[in-house]
Amino acid sequence: MKAIVLEAFGGPENLVYRLNSKPRVEPGMILVKVMAASVNPLDYKLRRDGAWAGIELPVILGSDVSGIVEEVGPGCTRFGKGDEVFYTAAIDKHRMGTYAEYHLVHESLAVTKPSSLSFIEAASLPLAGCTAWQALFDRGRLHLGETILIHAGAGGVGSLAIQMAKAAGARVLATCRKANRDLVSNLGADAVIDYRVEDVTRAVRSVIGSEALDVVFDTVGGTTIANSLSILKPGGRILSIAASDSVLGTAYRKNIDLHLIYLCRSRQLMEHLTTLLANGTLHPVIDSVLPLDRVGEAHKRLEAGGVRGKVVLEVAKS
Ligand SMILES: NC(=O)c1ccc[n+]([C@@H]2O[C@H](COP(=O)([O-])OP(=O)(O)OC[C@H]3O[C@@H](n4cnc5c(N)ncnc54)[C@H](OP(=O)(O)O)[C@@H]3O)[C@@H](O)[C@H]2O)c1
Repeated sequence: MKAIVLEAFGGPENLVYRLNSKPRVEPGMILVKVMAASVNPLDYKLRRDGAWAGIELPVILGSDVSGIVEEVGPGCTRFGKGDEVFYTAAIDKHRMGTYAEYHLVHESLAVTKPSSLSFIEAASLPLAGCTAWQALFDRGRLHLGETILIHAGAGGVGSLAIQMAKAAGARVLATCRKANRDLVSNLGADAVIDYRVEDVTRAVRSVIGSEALDVVFDTVGGTTIANSLSILKPGGRILSIAASDSVLGTAYRKNIDLHLIYLCRSRQLMEHLTTLLANGTLHPVIDSVLPLDRVGEAHKRLEAGGVRGKVVLEVAKS
């Protein structure tokens, strides 16, 4: 099968097109013909140096798939050949991710692709959508009437988190660059703050007045947690999927609930997404579509910032 293989950690030029052997089905696993695969920041972080995640080379990167079941392994009960599925999977012991024509996955992680979605749309959702759900609801307990600030509202995770938070009945403030203001507003944000020119704390204050935020969702890292503390109410919650340093002193004194979230993949999370898709609450946000062999460009696009939703790789034409 054709695959994009990383043979040495480093720049996007290290992602090379290779002919690899097709994975063999194993008990409990399904072999999926990949139609589309999306690109996540995790991919370029692993490409630069995946040693922190225990990645051994050579490896095929990529976590998100939409595709068609080609073969089912012994013991599989949920899918048959020809079923359309989508899912997110961690890179396994075979070091085979989703930048390839075929992908092997435990059937418990996959769900049926809604027929209303194209393969491209479906591939854009799993990792970012499951992360947004897990952060907002499983860990963050976001509920009706609360006010949340979502940092990076135009990003892959932020663009889905805005839609989910609005559907839950929250008041949503979101940050993004000026060029993405319309997108973020159309996704449902009640107030949009240009983090590049505005003082975010002051801008939030001007929206919420003397109130304070119930929840902050940090998808940026760096000093975001520290900078959000003064506008968070005592006992409020911070959800971070990108925390990179500890600025915890003030959080401690304000009794903040700080949730550091690392996605735990599951079918249940995927089922939450399919419910939101079925009831029209969630819509994919696609920045751009590139063929598999231009994955290096996709990495550069993400690393440069300014994306509007997800960059998706088209692996096969439907
Ligand atoms: N822990 C987990 O399980 C998990 C899961 C998924 C993702 N993540 C991490 O979460 C982060 C975001 O992921 P993603 O998929 O949403 O990334 P993405 O699609 O690349 O979006 C990131 C966006 O961040 C915005 N941004 C950059 N600096 C900012 C700042 N100072 N303030 C506000 N916005 C800023 C940019 O938006 P503008 O274009 O508007 O400037 C950029 O497009 C990545 O670090 C990723 O690795 C972690």
